[in-house]
Amino acid sequence: MTTKFPPISPKLPVFMHGADYNPDQWQHDPKVLEEDIRLMKLAGCNVMAIGIFAWAALEPEEGVFQFEWLDRVLDSFAENGIYAWLATPSGARPAWMSEKYPEVLRVEKNRVRNLHGMRHNHCFTSPVYREKVTIMNTKLAERYSQHPAVLGWHISNEYGGECHCDYCQEAFRGWLQRKYGTLDKLNMAWWASFWSHTYTSWSQVESPAPHGESMVHGHNLDWRRFVSDQTIDFYNHEIKPLKAVNPDLPCTTNFMDWFYGIDYREFAKVVDVISWDAYPTWHEKASDAAIAAWFSFNHDMFRTLKHKPFMLMESTPSLTNWQPVSKLKKPGMHKLSSLQAVAHGSDTVQYFQWRKSRGASEKFHGAVIDHAGHEHTRVFGDVAELGRTLAGLTELLGTNVPAEAAILADWDNRWAVNDAQGPRNGGLHYEQTVVQHYKALWELGVPTDIVGSEDDLSAYKLLILPMAYLLREETGKRIDAFVKNGGTLVSTYWTGVVDENDLCYLGGYPGPLRETLGIWAEEIDGLHDDQQNRLILEQGSARLGFGGEYAVHELCELIHTEGAQTLAVYGDDFYAGRPVLTVNERGAGKAYYLGARVRDDAFYEAFYNSLASEAGVRRALDAELPAGVTAQLRSDGEHDYVFVLGFSGREETVTLDGAAYTDVETGEPAAGTFTLPPYGLRVLKRSAR
Ligand code: GLA
Ligand code: ZN
Repeated sequence: MTTKFPPISPKLPVFMHGADYNPDQWQHDPKVLEEDIRLMKLAGCNVMAIGIFAWAALEPEEGVFQFEWLDRVLDSFAENGIYAWLATPSGARPAWMSEKYPEVLRVEKNRVRNLHGMRHNHCFTSPVYREKVTIMNTKLAERYSQHPAVLGWHISNEYGGECHCDYCQEAFRGWLQRKYGTLDKLNMAWWASFWSHTYTSWSQVESPAPHGESMVHGHNLDWRRFVSDQTIDFYNHEIKPLKAVNPDLPCTTNFMDWFYGIDYREFAKVVDVISWDAYPTWHEKASDAAIAAWFSFNHDMFRTLKHKPFMLMESTPSLTNWQPVSKLKKPGMHKLSSLQAVAHGSDTVQYFQWRKSRGASEKFHGAVIDHAGHEHTRVFGDVAELGRTLAGLTELLGTNVPAEAAILADWDNRWAVNDAQGPRNGGLHYEQTVVQHYKALWELGVPTDIVGSEDDLSAYKLLILPMAYLLREETGKRIDAFVKNGGTLVSTYWTGVVDENDLCYLGGYPGPLRETLGIWAEEIDGLHDDQQNRLILEQGSARLGFGGEYAVHELCELIHTEGAQTLAVYGDDFYAGRPVLTVNERGAGKAYYLGARVRDDAFYEAFYNSLASEAGVRRALDAELPAGVTAQLRSDGEHDYVFVLGFSGREETVTLDGAAYTDVETGEPAAGTFTLPPYGLRVLKRSAR
């Protein structure tokens, strides 16, 4: 039986391919629109995100609206079979608004209000800004909700940041009152007796500040949660008038790679489809494989947010202009990078932007149409070729990624673990640690979900918890049940240290997982950058199928086994001989604990290779892949689509497993061994496993 998700829009049941389009920058030259339509068709582009920063063009004076230019664009789209994600323009505001209503401007942590300028810097609480947004969004909804070219709404742009104005302070206090009810509860949760910080009136509570409070972890954590919630509340405010006019048009807002400030797992609950902006800076000092793994991790995370296909809303057709050195994409990389997103579950490939601006800070950012103004460019050729490729992949639309491995990564854990003082203020490297574990699965071609504490774990055979420092009791119980039911758990040092209020677990770490893991983590040693210890894998080598010594660095935990078996021990220092890698058999499952950060990727690859086999975790290909080459999988239950993606920068030889494959692009059968050129890829189809 085939199971596919419906297309993101029933109006366009093919891969969407297109770009951010800013015709408001070209109104003085009407010929541009006509030429753009010709070029869009030539490039195989069928969708544009339009009007993202067009507030000044839409409302040049307060209450004076100008929609004719947008009518013209959308009408000619409709006549030419091009569709639009129509934006709400709240990502930047006109000067008249900042001048007349300074309250719309954001106040920084230091309590100084910003001047007009830039973008993405409005107050999310300001009643005036909210009112202006409602007026604008209502007008857009009334005029365009039924327009044949409009597929859905692109809400604002890359929401982020925080505001410390009086309105936001009031809103923060209200949020805390709803959460805690009484000041006693707040004081307890924040451990406010510390340094005499006990609050005796709600009015004393303020947002963290560099010249005020910043040392109370529970306070910092709640402020982050509030900022995240307030941003989501602003989004809900934005979509209200849109949904009122036409509830069927999907709404999305463009997310950013593992963005720090907003809990996207919460945000995902209120958007209809996930979209995000991926800007891999290829051909940097870091290897392309390392960059690819970070972006694959993000694609997987964005897919997992709703467990369904997502949109690549922005990417660059060539280079970005905000990195220290702007590298061009080497031949092959445009297709590889675009289909990487598709391999992980994207049903669109979109760019920033269609036509290069003539002036201002983005005039040298990659775009489909160069300042030269025609189609005879390398970049246009790459884009047009990708348009043809995507048109040949329609059968993959709506297919899912059947992952049996998952990595747990919660936003509040990330905030808490990075905020703590000790055990290594010189760099805990939480994010790098998560992605180091992920990269091993990526090299092995193991489809992987990135989950949060509240996600259902029943579909997984392997669950990884890198530095799950903040871990709720409840999550601990669910993870324990996962193990007892036959799951394989891998947990690392610095897990189960604090509860949801950032209060340490009393009675021994790893708190709620102590019995599950069968260990007690008594102390943790921070290592200087130039120090290391060794993980000696001897006892466990027969069981794991590999052995040897591996350098460990940064953090070394001193653990006691309480039922778990020791697989590896430390080699040096006063804790030489003590356990660093253990496994606990529990119910039908197993729980591994890694007590230190292993430095080299080779350990993680060998370790997860062993665990994936032991746990019977699905891989895209049952074959060994060259380093820097990954295989990813989409499936409709009847057919599997295997993407072999070569990020090593070298020519590689890939040997398939025994299944009968067809190359989706050429329709030719594929078997045995083939050569992948540098930055090459193949999309192969087989019967579903
Ligand atoms: C972000 C924004 C775009 C543009 C690009 C440039 O993703 O959403 O408006 O500024 O960056 O890379
Ligand atoms: Zn504010």
